[in-house]
Amino acid sequence: MTNAVALITGGASGIGKATAIKLASLGIHVVISDRRRDVGEAAAKEICGASCRGDKVQYIQNDVTNEDHVKSLIATIIEEFGQLDMAVNNAGISSEVVSIDASNSDNYSAMVNTNLVGLYYCMKHQIIQMLKQKQGAIVNVASIASLNGIPWAATYASTKHGVVGLTKSAAIDHAQQGIRINAVAPGAIRTDIIAKQLDGHDENYNQEIISAIHPMNRLGKPEEVANGIAWLL
Ligand code: NAI
Repeated sequence: MTNAVALITGGASGIGKATAIKLASLGIHVVISDRRRDVGEAAAKEICGASCRGDKVQYIQNDVTNEDHVKSLIATIIEEFGQLDMAVNNAGISSEVVSIDASNSDNYSAMVNTNLVGLYYCMKHQIIQMLKQKQGAIVNVASIASLNGIPWAATYASTKHGVVGLTKSAAIDHAQQGIRINAVAPGAIRTDIIAKQLDGHDENYNQEIISAIHPMNRLGKPEEVANGIAWLL
């Protein structure tokens, strides 16, 4: 994998940042894209200082909900590195943890636009580039909510179910063209998303209850998901 070039969307924190650390430690050139410039720049600097075997971990600001942004992100990577070998479509949000009757339609639109339509823009332009190269690997970050019903998560779960549909069908379309497309579907992982959800929710939704529904009786760690993503890449 040395000298490969990887893009991680939403790479400024949580699972994306842990994946950036893992890939950089393998000598891969990593481009972290994220809508949050300050956190993204700090992450790239920290990773390069900590574990960079390759010479480049860089941050490029990007909003996955804007197709022109996504197109120019891929173009910038090709201009700089000449290739895009790996992509991790990880940028995602969970705007609220409520049943559908209590949900806010604007929050729902934001989740659809980020988790599903944004991921579609990314996959589309990554695949266009990878077809030119005749090789590439994509890992989408889905969720346990892609595969199961989850309490107070109908809106989020619908976007993550869509990610699995995009992944499975696109994987078939491009299987004979040198492009592998997979997804990971993590349970609850200790990141900002979960911290925000636990914060301010009632006593029916706390860390103990969330841990108890996982066979390991604990929240997962971002590094554990990062290892799985690196293996799939
Ligand atoms: P996080 O909040 O630490 O990371 C998400 C990153 O995506 C943030 O840095 C954020 O700035 C970025 N982002 C959000 N919207 C964006 C946009 N429009 N354009 C570019 N960047 C954007 O949270 P975490 O947990 O690391 O989430 C990563 C992915 O993992 C998400 O897709 C989430 O749905 C998924 N996931 C998380 C689980 C968990 O328990 N933490 C479980 C299963 C899946």
